[in-house]
Amino acid sequence: MLSHAAKILARSRFAIAFTGAGISAESGVPTFRGFNGLWKRYRPEELATPEAFQMNPNLVWEFYRWRMKKILEAKPNPAHYSLAELERLGIIKAVITQNVDDLHREAGTRNLVELHGNIFRVKCTSCDYRENLKEGGRVNEFVESRELPKCPRCGSPLRPDVVWFGETLPKDALEKAFNLAERADVVLVIGTSGVVYPAAYIPYIVKEHGGRVIEVNVERSGITPIADVFLRGKAGEILPKILELVRELR
Ligand code: OAD
Ligand code: ZN
Repeated sequence: MLSHAAKILARSRFAIAFTGAGISAESGVPTFRGFNGLWKRYRPEELATPEAFQMNPNLVWEFYRWRMKKILEAKPNPAHYSLAELERLGIIKAVITQNVDDLHREAGTRNLVELHGNIFRVKCTSCDYRENLKEGGRVNEFVESRELPKCPRCGSPLRPDVVWFGETLPKDALEKAFNLAERADVVLVIGTSGVVYPAAYIPYIVKEHGGRVIEVNVERSGITPIADVFLRGKAGEILPKILELVRELR
């Protein structure tokens, strides 16, 4: 199965990757639907919404500071690095991710499409002010603070620049992702439950256009029924093996 997947990738014309929380699980970032997805007694669906923020912005910020802290402690794992290397080899043309954790970028992926935003960016709830906390060197200040962050331009509360339940995805990212999916002859789907739309359309679009779907997951997902190759196992173990086989085949 592994060698079959490697062959498909090595012979591909335009392969892309589509990733979810499972690729960062081995880095210590909690997934959404797993056992460790809980913070205090809340499910993410209760906190990652515009309504929750409206009702209790301090609680939502506390949750995001906890996630930011977890992510700051996390390092990319061999799965992230293998994808970046497959891009350098010219095999993978882009990585489309649902993750907000920045680990693909840290691992060296260049052509990255972030469908659900980035946890290290904030935006104003009233005006169009946006800020990248990492680039501005303000991440630690944000994580340590207990106050409701305010927009320096208009004074309204700032919020994380991530997509919440019930919100639409950033238009440019979604368009770019759909275009890539239409062009792709192979999609490597890694660590996603494949139940959150529109992101989960990506593999279906590739399939509809005649492309092939290779999936890596520790269990079956919403994508598995259309997978041409399903590789059961941990992303951090399987991806380096695929990379090695692809290298041998080139
Ligand atoms: P989920 O938490 O729904 O799914 C994680 C997937 O990773 C599951 O299918 C696991 O079986 C798999 N998995 C866990 N550990 C793995 C490992 N070591 N190797 C390979 N696979 C592993 O996360 P997503 O599918 O990313 O949206 O969730 C999609 C979206 O739902 C998220 O982006 C988020 C959430 O609501 C927003 O925040 C808008
Ligand atoms: Zn503002």
